[in-house]
Amino acid sequence: MRLISCSATGASLSSLTLAFLLLLPCHHVASILGQKSDSALTVVEDAEGGEGAGADEEEEVMVDLKVVKPTAQWQTLKPEEAVPAGSHVRLNLQTGQREVRLGEEQLKYWTQEHREREATQPTFSPDELKQAMKKIKEDLNPDSVASKYRPLEELKRDMAQLDLLIETDVQIMRRLLDQFNSSNSTTEQRLNILHELEYLVHQVDNAQTLCSMGGLQLILGGLNSSDVRLQESSAFVLGSALSSNPEVQVKAVESGALQMLLTALVTAQPLQVKKKVLFAVASLLRHFPYAQRNFLSHGGLQVLSELFRADGGGVLRTRVVTMLYDMISEKELISQTGLDPVLDASHEERVRQYSKVSLEGGLLENGWCSLVPQLLESTEHDYREKALRALLAMAPTCLNQYRSDSALLGSLLSLRDQYQEMVQSEMILGEENSYFAEIVDLIDALQVKMK
Ligand SMILES: *[C@@H]1O[C@H](CO)[C@@H](O)[C@H](O)[C@H]1NC(C)=O
Ligand SMILES: *[C@@H]1O[C@H](CO)[C@@H](O)[C@H](O)[C@H]1NC(C)=O
Ligand SMILES: *[C@@H]1O[C@H](CO)[C@@H](O)[C@H](O)[C@H]1NC(C)=O
Repeated sequence: MRLISCSATGASLSSLTLAFLLLLPCHHVASILGQKSDSALTVVEDAEGGEGAGADEEEEVMVDLKVVKPTAQWQTLKPEEAVPAGSHVRLNLQTGQREVRLGEEQLKYWTQEHREREATQPTFSPDELKQAMKKIKEDLNPDSVASKYRPLEELKRDMAQLDLLIETDVQIMRRLLDQFNSSNSTTEQRLNILHELEYLVHQVDNAQTLCSMGGLQLILGGLNSSDVRLQESSAFVLGSALSSNPEVQVKAVESGALQMLLTALVTAQPLQVKKKVLFAVASLLRHFPYAQRNFLSHGGLQVLSELFRADGGGVLRTRVVTMLYDMISEKELISQTGLDPVLDASHEERVRQYSKVSLEGGLLENGWCSLVPQLLESTEHDYREKALRALLAMAPTCLNQYRSDSALLGSLLSLRDQYQEMVQSEMILGEENSYFAEIVDLIDALQVKMK
């Protein structure tokens, strides 16, 4: 449905302001009309409109507003498109486009009590609608009699209402945190809140704002909860907030998140919870040598080895091994990159910090050299691939143990045969550069090191 309104532009109003002011009133009209009418609505100038000074020279601008109906998925907004109040709008920094999505709140708003009310609400008559549109026009036209004498206070009040109608992410988070913190909230409500927060914190600045609002403490409290669902959801929010967000990583470490996560990793029972806690730990440690060093000195590798031993299924094992691989290769990469120290002054500092992250001792102490090979026994190609990559990364520390590990030697031989065969049959089918060939390469590389 689209609404077309004719409007006079005043010299002092930029087209941006115009679009902004039009957006909300038009939406009101749009929602009152509902889906009943698909026809374009045009409001024409009438005689009374001519009273204002310079009405004759008034430039007629067609403001063609298309009100987008947000869905649960992000959709890109075109410049002339407007959204209903309460939608989540974000700026996609990669494309520079605005995107809209239906907020959870909005879903609830529409599905609950409001639905019935909306259906019984009287609709505007065409005349009333015309008056409403004219009013908007007058408000926008600084030359019109009405707006010339419009008290400033009234304008301010209108602007405040506009603010209320568009709930910003910051306001949403404030409200969610207050609800979460309220002793009245039920576990179900808290879970819903965490679900919404998890969505919001994917935006870097939202996650940082959440921290400055004291949200980190509340979420860490959730991690400490006796309810496993709250633990799981809290860990998920924390992991998402920490992902690629150095500022949040620092704040989390300062808030004692590392110790709490390690405790949760040891005590959390269901696999689902452990998975999410592990996700949060991995997000906290990534590219953060200070946290990594603390993780190691607090027995992190031992905790991980216990997780590995306890996990039969392989999901958790794979994630743990991937985490080890990431830590080892991250450090490797830093020491290998010969960045120009003049151009990159922080490089030296980075090298210095990573040199304090000493993984070798912990890997040997906690038996990782013989644990990781066990993951090769999995039937999943993906798990085996992750294991092979980690084995290669650990080779400088573990080579002696690998050489005397007959089970590992046997696994590598039989896996190589198996994958070589699969590569052959793929080649018959005309496929090249397959995933299986990649696995064969990894096995070859490992065997070369072990010779
Ligand atoms: C809890 O709910 C009651 C009524 O349901 C309300 O009066 C009270 O203010 C609420 N307390 C908090 C802390 O929100
Ligand atoms: C939670 O509530 C307590 C008091 O009930 C208050 O001191 C604290 O600041 C609140 N935390 C947040 C993040 O709103
Ligand atoms: C976590 O729970 C323990 C015991 O219930 C309590 O002593 C501790 O203060 C809690 N920590 C946080 C950050 O809520």
